[in-house]
Amino acid sequence: MNSHKKHFQAFIYLQVLVLIVSLFFYNYDLKLAGAFSGKFSIWVFWIVAIPGILQRFRVKNKLQKIQLFLMKYRRYLGIIVFNFAFIHFMWMRGLDIIATGLPSSIPLYQVFGVIALVLLTPLFLTSNNYSVKKLGKFWKTLHTLVYPTMFLLVLHTSFQGLDYALIYGLPSAIILVIQIYSHIYVSKIQKSK
Ligand code: HEM
Repeated sequence: MNSHKKHFQAFIYLQVLVLIVSLFFYNYDLKLAGAFSGKFSIWVFWIVAIPGILQRFRVKNKLQKIQLFLMKYRRYLGIIVFNFAFIHFMWMRGLDIIATGLPSSIPLYQVFGVIALVLLTPLFLTSNNYSVKKLGKFWKTLHTLVYPTMFLLVLHTSFQGLDYALIYGLPSAIILVIQIYSHIYVSKIQKSK
């Protein structure tokens, strides 16, 4: 196994360890850290979208090097996205829910966040060689769930106010549009052949 893979794996184990340890040190400061975990999750999610887009546009030179590097570690990055999102959920709301039960009302932006997390779950669970082999073509179909997830993240962040809409919602929406456009671009090229 190469050293990059080892580093990614070590980071994933660290995320799991931090989450487990946090269960024993539940306090208000975790909410602040939870917001950071949400930021990291969305940033890495954007990065994970890049190699697919670059591949569909058949980029060359430096961009192709970036594409190949990210493609190679995309599965690890995807797991990191999920772990950050899950930690974000646990520290922002999950631990409160375990301690005091479900709140009587849930703001709409959190509902969007929960659905995004639920959609990321099958992607997380199938991010391993065994699932790729077992699911065959369906694995790719399953991974189209990243598009509704990106859309839900546009809603999750934008429904929190204009500043979040500009910082997180707008870049997510732009990436989603480019993803969809790159798909149309590829199918046009295939049809014209
Ligand atoms: C894929 C799943 C998710 C991602 C990527 C995500 C991402 C984010 C981001 C980027 C922010 C803005 C953070 C900041 O700058 O302060 C945020 C805020 C927030 N999210 Fe999520 N989120 C997700 C799911 C959830 C879920 C499931 C919940 C809980 C039900 C949740 C609850 C919150 C709350 C309460 C805030 C407001 C933080 C504040 O007060 O500043 N999120 N989320």
